[in-house]
Amino acid sequence: MNSQSEWGNSFANASTSAMSFYDEIMVPRWFEPWAQLLLDKLSPESGQTVVDVACGPGTVTRLVAQRVGPKGSVTGCDLSPAMLEIARSKKPLEGSAPIEYLECPADALGVPDGVVDLVTCQQGLQFFPDRVAALVEMRRVLRPGGKLGVAVWGSIEDCPPCLALANALGQVLGPDVADAYKGGPWGLADPDSLIQLAIDGGFTDVEVRRYELPIVFDGGPSQLMLTLRAASVAATIAQLSEEDQTALAAALDESSRRITVNGIVSSHTVAHILTARVGGTQEPT
Ligand SMILES: C[S@@+](CC[C@H](N)C(=O)[O-])C[C@H]1O[C@@H](n2cnc3c(N)ncnc32)[C@H](O)[C@@H]1O
Repeated sequence: MNSQSEWGNSFANASTSAMSFYDEIMVPRWFEPWAQLLLDKLSPESGQTVVDVACGPGTVTRLVAQRVGPKGSVTGCDLSPAMLEIARSKKPLEGSAPIEYLECPADALGVPDGVVDLVTCQQGLQFFPDRVAALVEMRRVLRPGGKLGVAVWGSIEDCPPCLALANALGQVLGPDVADAYKGGPWGLADPDSLIQLAIDGGFTDVEVRRYELPIVFDGGPSQLMLTLRAASVAATIAQLSEEDQTALAAALDESSRRITVNGIVSSHTVAHILTARVGGTQEPT
């Protein structure tokens, strides 16, 4: 199994408590600012129908529901029951479209053909076992002229807090564990490969741009360490002896020293945002 499938399976089989670390620590500090940027690039319109693929705890789903407003309609799809449980438990944002959450894989969305104006997918594509099949499926649900917006991380070197984690994992647990960590979220960093995937998926007007946003872990390296609870290496970490846990924390303190000031980890992350369209004419509304 490759690193991406390992991560995909770890999400699918994750407990709600493990994913609540993702939701409480990573979403507000990391994924929500990126979701706002993705939506700024896509400019969803009032009343539109949207599908958010690999919706997780509803990060993009909820924000896009607010942007399309009560006349719109939004579906969040994910294969992780734990992520969907967290998403469904959240109160809707004010003035939002109704949201339906569906448990389904990205290459078999439970949505009819050609009824969607906009498909979003933030930090999901890299984990899909068949990325082209997932893109073909996204195209299937979009109407002619419909829009796609996909975000994937750049290389791990462009995410210094995560590189610090990978280096600490490598030092204490060896290169295989570090590579398993690095290979998942940062495993689709080449923008040309991303463009080719969208073309192979049948999209037109394909564009990819690189963006950078700040990231702050106000709780310092120990808070950064908690992000591993939502990683594919979580089970390995949970089984470590107390001595190895202490060694890992010390290694992370050291590897994140350059980006830690007064106990706060402060750095940046980079993502590529792909936008594309389904060929054909938009029907008059
Ligand atoms: C890093 S999270 C991103 C979640 C969300 N889009 C966000 O921005 O917070 C990756 C998500 O991809 C989902 N995922 C992984 N493989 C999938 C697949 N084959 N089909 C659907 N969802 C998948 C996981 O369950 C997880 O919720």
